[in-house]
Amino acid sequence: MERERFVDKIALVTGGANGLGRGMVEQLVKEGAQVAVFDIEDDTMEEAFDGNDRVYCVHCDVRDYDQVQKGVQNVIERYGRIDVLMNNAGIVHRQGFLECSKEGWLDVMDTNLNGVFYVGQAVARTMVDLGVEGCIVNTCSNTSRKTVAGVTPYGPSKAAVKMLTQIMALELAKYGIHVNAVAPGTSRTRIAAGTINDPERSAAFLAKMPFGRYGEVREMVSVALFLASEDASFITGETIYEEGGFSLP
Ligand SMILES: NC(=O)c1ccc[n+]([C@@H]2O[C@H](COP(=O)([O-])OP(=O)(O)OC[C@H]3O[C@@H](n4cnc5c(N)ncnc54)[C@H](O)[C@@H]3O)[C@@H](O)[C@H]2O)c1
Repeated sequence: MERERFVDKIALVTGGANGLGRGMVEQLVKEGAQVAVFDIEDDTMEEAFDGNDRVYCVHCDVRDYDQVQKGVQNVIERYGRIDVLMNNAGIVHRQGFLECSKEGWLDVMDTNLNGVFYVGQAVARTMVDLGVEGCIVNTCSNTSRKTVAGVTPYGPSKAAVKMLTQIMALELAKYGIHVNAVAPGTSRTRIAAGTINDPERSAAFLAKMPFGRYGEVREMVSVALFLASEDASFITGETIYEEGGFSLP
């Protein structure tokens, strides 16, 4: 039986046009929420949610501070408040340390770290102003604790998201706002397609996975939505690793 944890809730999902974010939007809608989506892939976003009156698509580049302020304001004007933020948009640049360009470094930091700060702060301000005791879930990664070569800025951006999650949790607790993070391992989305679709790379990778398989989108979504729900009412500041034991210390 489908649960209905988000009836009458207003949610915002960044990076909701594809992959994990899209899975989050779909499950939030199934469980009763009205969902706003921020993404930069307008066609994919429109195609994914065409005709769905529970989804409001907004072109918003999370790297752009002004667009984020405007986007959040649009959602507030339309729905009156935001109860749940899935702060999920993220990218990877495959560049080793010696080759990593300044542009590549900055793009990853702008998206994965600055974007989480811009959207997190803008939404949290609305929660405080409107007295909403909401939930924020940041998408981190298992590369926040496991050293992974070849994607130079990615791990540092996600390690910073983990600490930012703790800071947000500590400062927002007095307003009744929960802030947690999910840290997926390699999962079946296009971000991991390079590994998944290359038989040799994939075999080498899976040999290091305790469960010998990739994560499924629904497995990542279920943990993220748990953290966004009443079920997690005494959890804040935590990062939950959903990675089949890959980076266990
Ligand atoms: N899939 C994995 O293996 C994996 C593992 C660890 C962490 N993650 C994290 O999960 C999150 C989702 O990744 P995914 O696997 O679903 O990837 P994805 O590429 O399928 O989806 C990412 C979405 O974010 C959007 N996006 C990118 N830049 C944006 C920007 N500047 N503004 C707004 N939207 C933007 C993209 O258009 C896309 O719709 C990311 O933060 C990623 O780092 C994924």
